[in-house]
Amino acid sequence: MDPNALETEAQSAIAAASSPDELEQERVRYLGRKSELKQALREVRDRESGMTLNALRERLETAFAGREEALRGAELEQLLGEESFDVTLPGAEPPRGHYHLITQIRREVEDIFVGLGYEVVDGDEVEDTYHLFDALNMAPGHVTRSPLHTLYLNGDTVLRTETSASQIRVMESREPPVYMVSLGRVYRRDTIEAKNFPIFHQVEGLAVAEGITLGDLKGTLLHLCRAFFGEDQQVRFSTDFFPFTEPSVQLAVSCFLCNGAGCRTCKYTGWIELGGSGLVDPNVLRNVGYDPEQVSGFAFGIGLERIAMLRHGVPDIRLFWENDLRFLAQF
Ligand code: DAH
Repeated sequence: MDPNALETEAQSAIAAASSPDELEQERVRYLGRKSELKQALREVRDRESGMTLNALRERLETAFAGREEALRGAELEQLLGEESFDVTLPGAEPPRGHYHLITQIRREVEDIFVGLGYEVVDGDEVEDTYHLFDALNMAPGHVTRSPLHTLYLNGDTVLRTETSASQIRVMESREPPVYMVSLGRVYRRDTIEAKNFPIFHQVEGLAVAEGITLGDLKGTLLHLCRAFFGEDQQVRFSTDFFPFTEPSVQLAVSCFLCNGAGCRTCKYTGWIELGGSGLVDPNVLRNVGYDPEQVSGFAFGIGLERIAMLRHGVPDIRLFWENDLRFLAQF
């Protein structure tokens, strides 16, 4: 047997094979048990021709393997037509959802207060007028009792216009001290505008214990504003009125956009009003059976949409309800 002639012949047979099946037939012919080469290897007696033949066998095996891979690849490509692909590539990641901005902010505010040792309490969106109005010290003729402001379901049952009713529910159910926040939806009969929507969210806060003062309220709200808007923020109180607090104050935070220099968002005042607060009116404490001589408290209520719009520069409250992913995905 002439190894060179055999190699030339086998290599051209390998190149000529046009399918894996054909190639296999050639492999049997040139490398199979009954092949000339195997025969020669069995009969070899000297070291040198053994090495020559083994090297030839190895070269042919490599050539067969290479040709087989090429033929199988071509076969696969034909099967798939134009759309051949690499199965080892990582897959396309399916788009994943995330929490709505208002939910994110709700959780953020809850976390801030949990960090201060407050309890997070759920309130009911459907309330009775006693808990929403009377117990909160609202006079019988108070404007928000009007069906022009409040959505009545029937008789004394209403959709809550503020989360403050949750204060009453919690105080009724336990003795002081109380440290709680309650976050959720409120409903008002309002026209829909860029800054108004008849459904929105509030965070209600309440602390009642012995010796609570306005200083405690200010320190707590300062902590909230710094955690939420940034460590450099200041807070300011200005006089206000709410039936359930005395004194009542309006909470403002130093403008985090212009740092107090004056800009459109803060209407060139350097301050942004965030919501109402004050010391719990003694009448409210009495309504829940607490003794205003023994305990005092503070309360506050802030709109979540409002702080979301301020912090993220959202120009229109309706965006929160349209559920356009191009908007939601930004947060
Ligand atoms: N309930 C008020 C509102 O919806 C906000 C508020 C003001 C809540 C003063 C309070 C408070 O707890 O003490 O406008």
